[in-house]
Amino acid sequence: MTGAGEWTGRVGGVWAKEWQRTDRSFGELTDRLLDPTALSSFSHALDIGCGAGEISIALATRNPNAAITGLDISSDLLAIARERAAELPNVAFHHADAATWHLDKAAIAPDLLISRHGVMFFDHPVAAFAHLRLLASTNALLRFSCFRERNANGWAELLQGILPEPPTTPDPHAPGPFAFGNEDRVSVILRDAGWKDIAFEPLDYAMIAGEGEDALEEAVAYFLRIGSAASAIAALEGATRERAIANLRAMLADHREQDRIALPAAAWIVTAHAG
Ligand SMILES: C[S@@+](CC[C@H](N)C(=O)[O-])C[C@H]1O[C@@H](n2cnc3c(N)ncnc32)[C@H](O)[C@@H]1O
Repeated sequence: MTGAGEWTGRVGGVWAKEWQRTDRSFGELTDRLLDPTALSSFSHALDIGCGAGEISIALATRNPNAAITGLDISSDLLAIARERAAELPNVAFHHADAATWHLDKAAIAPDLLISRHGVMFFDHPVAAFAHLRLLASTNALLRFSCFRERNANGWAELLQGILPEPPTTPDPHAPGPFAFGNEDRVSVILRDAGWKDIAFEPLDYAMIAGEGEDALEEAVAYFLRIGSAASAIAALEGATRERAIANLRAMLADHREQDRIALPAAAWIVTAHAG
């Protein structure tokens, strides 16, 4: 489980070191989330759980007349985001919990609320989305991506399969990567928070774990640092640990496609309107 609290400590620090590999892993999902035909025009976008800033930076670059605000609770990730966006005058990052953050009185209410996999970690999702709706402009668009359920995400099953014994099954609704996997649950959360026109688009995409000459070793290094398999492997010792790493390498080698290692992933692109 990755609850909000973990992002402020070790987990955020590890993701900050891995931001390039993480951006690459999202690949086609990013293109779909940012599809200009789906976004329409906006003057102020709020990037919820912006992490190392790829979505904020893409929006700021493509929309120089719009203001972009990125929010995150990890200071390590925000430091990377700020460095990457140093040349962009229209993007600002704030160290803040999106569930309670308040807009400056002088600021324009956001008319686009966007997130790439940054909204599944709220302890109280209805309250968080109700708060976000109240600070949004009347007809604001909410558009975010999140994983579909764990059993639809081949990458998660494959990573589980390399371990000597499966980890205990977490509560599927607990804050974490799969907390928004169930369409009905997310629909109820958004509806109870006051959002309208809620729609779900399923997207099956390739999670790019490694690319280029060293694709396999890149992918091994990535999964030894990021996510629940990394923590599970780190907790193993001796020959058991070596075997798990060998299993990881073999599994990733089986998913080589030309010069990249691609694992099957399944997401929702969720949209809704504030009013
Ligand atoms: C899976 S990462 C995605 C990061 C980024 N959107 C990206 O696509 O690279 C989830 C992010 O949500 C942030 N986060 C979690 N809970 C949050 C909250 N309550 N408010 C703001 N950010 C939060 C984490 O710190 C982390 O950066």
